[in-house]
Amino acid sequence: MGARLRITVIVGSTRDGRVGDAIAQWFVDRAKQRGDLEIDVLDLAEFDFPDRYPEEATPQMTMFTTAVDRADGYVVVTPEYNRSFPASLKQAIDYAYDEWHAKPVGFVSYGCRSRGHYAVEALRVVFTELHTMAVRDEVAIDLLAVRGDGTPRDRDVLEAAVTTMLDQLTWWGHALREARAARPYLARTKGERP
Ligand SMILES: Cc1cc2nc3c(=O)[nH]c(=O)nc-3n(C[C@H](O)[C@H](O)[C@H](O)COP(=O)(O)O)c2cc1C
Repeated sequence: MGARLRITVIVGSTRDGRVGDAIAQWFVDRAKQRGDLEIDVLDLAEFDFPDRYPEEATPQMTMFTTAVDRADGYVVVTPEYNRSFPASLKQAIDYAYDEWHAKPVGFVSYGCRSRGHYAVEALRVVFTELHTMAVRDEVAIDLLAVRGDGTPRDRDVLEAAVTTMLDQLTWWGHALREARAARPYLARTKGERP
């Protein structure tokens, strides 16, 4: 199996007063308990991205795409905004292209009754375009059943969901890391995108 997989957790909401940071922390605490993953966090609120997509990548954009490149897989923590995911997340995702290729992605979503399910369905389309392997099972949190500190009420069910999602992500992470080492991924065509 080789070295531990490097999994980058991307915190998608940058909203003032967001709950996304607390939910991401809850997830990261559980992911770290496994011991078989090296967990990094990329919090989009800590980046200062440009208002418009520039002709040349800014240092902040490069910092983000370099972190995406270094990872063996990703967990995207996303809220649901109007039946999709927030603009802050789309802005960041679009800065990278081949850095995403042939790696797995899992989701921790949250919203009201839908638990962020529509956001994840929209993200699956985007991540297919980016040649990633989006794992089947997600961790989906009902905000109407979360305490103020970000701790979910249906904790046992959600902790089991974390294990299931991370087991799938880990399987794909090792399989794809070995495959990328054995042969270059077909779509790894630098320069295909602006
Ligand atoms: C612009 C906007 C649109 C929203 N649309 C939805 C929605 O379609 N479905 C839903 O379940 N919750 C929706 N919500 C509620 C969010 O899920 C909730 O506010 C959540 O806390 C947002 O995540 P954040 O606090 O990490 O930014 C919306 C919130 C905002 C700010």
